[in-house]
Amino acid sequence: MSEKKTRTLRSQEWFDNPDNPGMTALYLERYLNYGLTSHELRSGKPIIGIAQTGSDLSPCNRHHLELAKRVRDGIAAAGGVALEFPVHPIQETGKRPTAALDRNLAYLGLVEVLYGYPLDGVVLTVGCDKTTPAMLMGAATVNIPAIALSVGPMLNGWHRGERTGSGTIVWKSRERLAAGEIDYEEFIDIVASSAPSVGYCNTMGTATTMNSLAEALGMELPGGAAIPAPYRERGQIAYETGRRIVEMVQENLRPSDIMTREAFENAIVVNSAIGGSTNAPIHLNAIARHLGVKLDNDDWQAVGHEIPLLVNLQPAGEYLGEDYHHAGGVPAVVNELMMAGKLPHPGALTVNGKTIGENCRNAENLDTKVIRPFADPLKEKAGFINLKGNLFDSAIMKTSVISPEFRDRYLSNPEDPDAFEGTAHVFDGPEEYHAKIDDPALGIDENSILIMRGSGPIGYPGGAEVVNMQPPAHLIKKGVHALPCVGDGRQSGTSGSPSILNASPEAAANGGLALVKTGDRIRIDLKKGAANILISDEELAQRRAELMAAGGYQYPAHQTPWQEIQRGMIDQLSEGMVLKPAVKYQRIAQN
Ligand code: FES
Ligand code: MG
Repeated sequence: MSEKKTRTLRSQEWFDNPDNPGMTALYLERYLNYGLTSHELRSGKPIIGIAQTGSDLSPCNRHHLELAKRVRDGIAAAGGVALEFPVHPIQETGKRPTAALDRNLAYLGLVEVLYGYPLDGVVLTVGCDKTTPAMLMGAATVNIPAIALSVGPMLNGWHRGERTGSGTIVWKSRERLAAGEIDYEEFIDIVASSAPSVGYCNTMGTATTMNSLAEALGMELPGGAAIPAPYRERGQIAYETGRRIVEMVQENLRPSDIMTREAFENAIVVNSAIGGSTNAPIHLNAIARHLGVKLDNDDWQAVGHEIPLLVNLQPAGEYLGEDYHHAGGVPAVVNELMMAGKLPHPGALTVNGKTIGENCRNAENLDTKVIRPFADPLKEKAGFINLKGNLFDSAIMKTSVISPEFRDRYLSNPEDPDAFEGTAHVFDGPEEYHAKIDDPALGIDENSILIMRGSGPIGYPGGAEVVNMQPPAHLIKKGVHALPCVGDGRQSGTSGSPSILNASPEAAANGGLALVKTGDRIRIDLKKGAANILISDEELAQRRAELMAAGGYQYPAHQTPWQEIQRGMIDQLSEGMVLKPAVKYQRIAQN
């Protein structure tokens, strides 16, 4: 450690380089113009960036504008100098056509800032869905010391004495609105009740998932994910995060030391135990690729599928973010897993310099209704399986959400309860689905399988959260509330339908989904991990030849320059949806 402490900090190349006094003076003078002193910038104090993802356009992360003050206090107390800078906003609920379009844009922006400015370490302010992966991906590529700070979930939402959770309440109330039980204004009121304070979604959606996984990866201080945004502990951990990043710079503790293969395996296990979003494999695979760590959807199945669901949060369960925090948050979940011998790598290092095992051992589970003991889980086998076949090379499914009623409808053979068959009904993009779904002439019945294509990273640029499709109104009235859905898009982490999603390659990359036709029989065999259109290889080849002769699968025109740029270089969902040319740039900070 002592050798590391004496190394020259990279900020000194800008601010104190006697070999190049002209540039040093130029770099230095402008940072003095608002009151920083030459002493602060030239005395070898670590210069710490605060990557600010909060703004008026990003309400989920907006509270970071306040928290950054405590981060600054912590940085100063530990002898560092804070330089806060803005990150391209990514608001999950506000950005058209989809916030996922911007994850890689924010990533690119962060890489340029971390690489090109005099920063020795960085505090990554994370929260809303895509902000967490974007920031961790950027830190992975540049590999300067980095620590994540969650903004924390909103307080619990309440309506007429019942918890209303982000997103989940929309899915529920939409059905009531469709059934005429509530009117439009009441619908809006109920949904708004789920957002009672600053912070991110209070359900186990993609935000709580990714913040929990950032902690499980070792990139946040212990307990940092679950503290609700308005709580005093949130400001306190912001301060501690500021203090700690300065020490991390002194210790030269880097993302590549923390986000190892072992850390990713821990995170996969935690994802199953918390009931994490189906967006998690996309984002973790992306972070891993930027670090050069091998990780794919087969790993998700092998490491995560058998792990039971412990955390009883909506949409899979009952409770919300405040309850999760009061029960003990991520450390209590990790400790439950450790006591059962199921955390694969308790020795993985975390940002506080201790291992995750050291951090979480003895973390008491303070409410076993919210975090169930390992021996009494909410659901068995809560992880994903990775399906393959002539429909796609990879698509994931959460088998734990399949209901017995659902199994009964689709069993092709009672001897083989893991195989389903149904008739494909194909939609090209969410617009077509919305325009046509309720048309009785389509003949959709309780044995249909709904297929959504044209919704992957190329087709619907960034990939749309549209695979979870509601059945037509006439089926809902008959009591059929879910049909199996298959698609090349994503699914909101706050919905709980039995879907096969993230199918790769997507239709727009001329994957198997581009070849399926309405009326085809589809067979899904969960035990074998297979998903196939039941047609001959010759017929499939014939369809492919016709598709390619017609110029391939057609998708809508680009609307912005970034849509066109990204479409030309984006990888598939199973591969993390990364920008392909970016992957070769790894650990690019020179010191
Ligand atoms: Fe931002 Fe859910 S919409 S966290
Ligand atoms: Mg989402």
